Amino acid sequence: MSTETAATSAAAAGLRGVVAAQSSIGDVNGEQGILIYQGYDIHDLAEHSTFEEVVYLLWHGELPTASQLDELKQRFSRNYEAPAEIIAAMKTYPKDADPMDVLRTAVSSLDFYDQNGHGTDREHAVKAAIRITGQIGTIAAAWDRIRNGKEPIAPDTSLSIAENFLYMLRGERADADEERIFDVCLILHADHELNASTFTTRVVAGTLAGMYGAVTAGIAALAGPLHGGANTNVMKMLLEIGDTDKIDSWLDKALEEKRKIMGIGHAVYKTEDPRATWLRRFSKQMADKKGETKWFEMSQKIEKAMLDKKGMYPNVDFYSASTYYLMGIPLDLYTPIFAVSRISGWTGHILEQYANNKLIRPRAEYIGQRDRKYTPIADRG
Ligand code: COA
Repeated sequence: MSTETAATSAAAAGLRGVVAAQSSIGDVNGEQGILIYQGYDIHDLAEHSTFEEVVYLLWHGELPTASQLDELKQRFSRNYEAPAEIIAAMKTYPKDADPMDVLRTAVSSLDFYDQNGHGTDREHAVKAAIRITGQIGTIAAAWDRIRNGKEPIAPDTSLSIAENFLYMLRGERADADEERIFDVCLILHADHELNASTFTTRVVAGTLAGMYGAVTAGIAALAGPLHGGANTNVMKMLLEIGDTDKIDSWLDKALEEKRKIMGIGHAVYKTEDPRATWLRRFSKQMADKKGETKWFEMSQKIEKAMLDKKGMYPNVDFYSASTYYLMGIPLDLYTPIFAVSRISGWTGHILEQYANNKLIRPRAEYIGQRDRKYTPIADRG
C-alpha cells in the first residue's frame, strides 16, 4: 500500500489503538483499569466464581446454571486424559526441551487423535475446545514429570482443572487455600481481549483452519518474553537481584541500559492492571503462609520504584511470579500455566471468529524501493 493511501503508519506501530475485531467476550479499559468478561467485572468473578464457570461464560455468554456447569465439568473430566500416543511421544523429546515448545508440539499433535473435533461449525469446534481445555494441563504437568524421569500422574476425574493441575504436578493434593488461589489465577488469566496470542488465534481461525492449528499458533505467540513469557522472567529477575538492598542499584543500571523490567508496563493499561491487584494479594498470602516474605517485599519495592521513576505499573505477570514460586512450581512452567488458563479465551475467540468469519488480511505500508531493473548476476558489483 502506498504512503498516500495508508490509513495507518508508524503512529500505529504494533497496531496500538487499532480495532481489529468485534467481540463480546472481554473488554479492557486501560485508563480506568477495568477488565470485564462478557459484562462481568473481573473482581466479581475472582471473588465468587470458578474457572469452569468462567470458561462456560466465555464460550456461551452467560453464567451456567448448576446443571449446565455440571455437564461442562463432566465433559472436561471425560477428556482429562491425554492420548497414550502423545505421552509416549513426549517421552522421546529432549529432556531439556522448553515446556512451551513441548506444549505447542503436543497440543498440535492432539489433532491426530481427535475423531470428533474437526470442522469449524459450532458443535465440532466446541468439542475440540473441550478436549484441548481438558488436556492442556495434563500435558503441561506430564512434561514436568517426564523430564524429571518420573511417570506422569493420571488425572483424577473428580477434581477441577486447577486442583488437577497441582495434583498431577506434585503427586498429591494441594491444600484448599492453594487450590483456591490457583483457581483464581486461572480466572484472572482467562481472557484479555485482542492480546497478541488471541489475535494470532483469530488470524489463523479466520482462514477457516481448524481449532488445533489456531490454538497451536496461540501457544507460539504466548511464549515470547514480551507476552506470556514475562512471568518466568520476573522470577529470574528477582533471583538475579537476590536481595532487597540491591534493588536500587540493579534497577538504575538496568534502566540506564534501556532494559525492560519484566512484569512492568502494559500496552493498554495506563493504571493498575486489576489482575495485579489480586496477584499482589496472593503473593503476600503465599509469603505469609510459607514464612518467606523476601520475594513479595522485593516485588513491592520494584513496583514502587518503577512507579516513581517511570510512572509504570505492574501487569498480570509481576506478582504471579512470586505466587507460583512459593507454590513450588518450576519457573519455566509459569507460561504453560498461562496457556492452561488462556486456552479458554483463545477458544472463545476462535468460536466467535468461526461464527461470523471474515478472512483477516490487513495491508502493509510499503516503504521499500520501486521501479528497479533486474541486473544479471555477472554484472552485479
Ligand atoms: N521497563 C522499562 N521501560 C519500559 C518498560 C519496562 N517494563 N515497558 C516500557 N518501557 C519504556 C520503553 O523502554 C519505552 O521507553 P522510550 O520511550 O524511552 O523508548 C516506553 O516505555 C514505551 O515502551 P513500549 O515498549 O513502546 O511500550 P508498549 O506499550 O509497547 O509496551 C510492553 C508494552 C508490555 C511490551 C512493555 O511494557 C514491556 O515490554 N514490558 C515488559 C514485559 C512484560 O511484562 N510483558 C507482559 C505484558 S502483560
